[in-house]
Amino acid sequence: MDEEQSGRMVSGKRQEEDSSVEMSLRPRRLSEYIGQTKVKEGLSIGIQAAQARQEALDHVLLYGPPGLGKTTLASIIAVEMGVNLRITSGPAIERQGDLVSILTNLKAGDVLFIDEIHRLNRTVEEVLYPAMEDFAVDIVLGKGPSARSMRLNLPRFTLVGATTRLALLTSPLRDRFGSVHRLDFYDQESMERIVRRSAEIFGIPIDEEGVREISARSRGTPRVANRVFKRVRDYAEVRADGQVSGDVARKALDQLEVDSLGLDDVDRRILRAIIEMFDGGPVGVDTLAAATSEETDTIMDVYEPYLIQLGFLQRTPRGRVATRRGYEHLGVTIPANDKPGVQPSFFDETRDSGA
Ligand code: ADE
Repeated sequence: MDEEQSGRMVSGKRQEEDSSVEMSLRPRRLSEYIGQTKVKEGLSIGIQAAQARQEALDHVLLYGPPGLGKTTLASIIAVEMGVNLRITSGPAIERQGDLVSILTNLKAGDVLFIDEIHRLNRTVEEVLYPAMEDFAVDIVLGKGPSARSMRLNLPRFTLVGATTRLALLTSPLRDRFGSVHRLDFYDQESMERIVRRSAEIFGIPIDEEGVREISARSRGTPRVANRVFKRVRDYAEVRADGQVSGDVARKALDQLEVDSLGLDDVDRRILRAIIEMFDGGPVGVDTLAAATSEETDTIMDVYEPYLIQLGFLQRTPRGRVATRRGYEHLGVTIPANDKPGVQPSFFDETRDSGA
């Protein structure tokens, strides 16, 4: 076997290891899940109460930015309840029949996880209403004047819905969830615990400074931390002695163009566009998307929430505005007579409303 072949073998093996390790990175039980204390407490009470009554858990809606653990929580709920988990997503269910088939195959108590539930189409959503409320689906047999409707009973199941956009859910759907939980960005302490846990599972030697550096620069998001961690490991193995020290982590993250607060190139491009192309805003999100060549949805789901959390960007009725802190982070001087982050007068026509 020549060197190139063996090289490929090694990287192939490494890929396999990565995906199985990745699975084990996910906490399986609520007790292993770090952070999101309020959500955990709410779910724990619900789960214990349902178990004591020997009932299915009430439907649960989880919302918040991507990468914070919505899918992980759905899987934990199923494990804690000792039932099966069926995973699907809003865009994957195209027709009513697709959902009816999923629902009629559920067993009593099962958890059905629908990711991106705000992207279900309306006709499919209508099947969900009686399914959630009455544990039944109405199916139509035949066509035209001879068509008949028949009600099929379903086992009592738990729907776990997840969305990055609570506002896009219709109220009839939202109202049918027994509990609604918001996932927040993780604080530094929780991120550090998650990074330490991942290091242990990956078997990567890391010191406390390395843990701090990766945690601080992963935008409060475990999925980002785990991805960044793998790139830092590569850097440590190729450019250092394999140990993740603070210095190695800093250099690796600089090389990835992730700054001290975890902003990447796209975050900075968005902020810079508001400041430099639209005089600090307000600018409509679609205009901003066109100016940065990003999708509107990606800006709204992925980038904006963290920029807002840092206080670098504000959503106003007239569009997005860069704040004083946003200017300062990029090292851009705030123009005289301008007050970044302060909403301009509604009648100030000199600004591009862009909305
Ligand atoms: N890995 C990713 N997210 C986690 C969490 N919230 N707790 C523990 N490990 C995790």
